[in-house]
Amino acid sequence: MPQPDQENLQNDSAFGGAVPHLRPAAITDVPEIHELLDEYARMGNLLPRPYSELYRHLRDFFVIEIGGKLVACGALEIFTENLGEVRSLVVSKQYEGHGLGKNLVQRIVDEARQIGLRRIMALTYVPGFFHKLGFRTVPKDTLPEKVWGICVKCYKFNACDETAVLLEIW
Ligand SMILES: CC(C)(COP(=O)(O)OP(=O)(O)OC[C@H]1O[C@@H](n2cnc3c(N)ncnc32)[C@H](O)[C@@H]1OP(=O)(O)O)[C@@H](O)C(=O)NCCC(=O)NCCS
Repeated sequence: MPQPDQENLQNDSAFGGAVPHLRPAAITDVPEIHELLDEYARMGNLLPRPYSELYRHLRDFFVIEIGGKLVACGALEIFTENLGEVRSLVVSKQYEGHGLGKNLVQRIVDEARQIGLRRIMALTYVPGFFHKLGFRTVPKDTLPEKVWGICVKCYKFNACDETAVLLEIW
């Protein structure tokens, strides 16, 4: 059943005639979110997130569903009144390159704007994707909320090779 805040995205021949729906995540999406993230976490592109953490942060997540299957997800995590992060952004391999990642980030930025957040960042191996969406590369040490809140617990802390990108929201 469609949800009130579900958005129908533009169709694409790659979607086999089905309309993609972008919506806030529901509790029953957690196993599929976990599976999506796990595929990339095993390759080292993303940090793995256990079930317990996904349930705790479920309200951060938006998902895209095509023909009843969850094919993409992304989350807005808030650190302070001045900084949030695009986290756990993944588009299933089969559906990459059709605008789904861009739709998710735009929805996350809209959400951030609605709640009055001023800046949104990401740590990423694909800065070029974020640059297309208006983010710019910044030194990591300009984002202490992230570095000392989250990165410090990461196994890559001393050898982080990701790029920090930032969008100012006005
Ligand atoms: C990165 C990712 C989310 C992009 O999603 P996507 O649906 O394939 O991207 P889109 O089709 O929405 O692309 C939007 C734009 O970004 C560009 N783009 C996509 N991936 C890119 C990349 N790796 N580098 C540079 N530009 C990229 C596209 O060409 C497109 O440009 P256009 O608007 O000029 O046509 C997806 O490839 C993915 O899940 N990657 C693995 C996990 C990951 O790295 N997530 C990011 C964690 S921060």
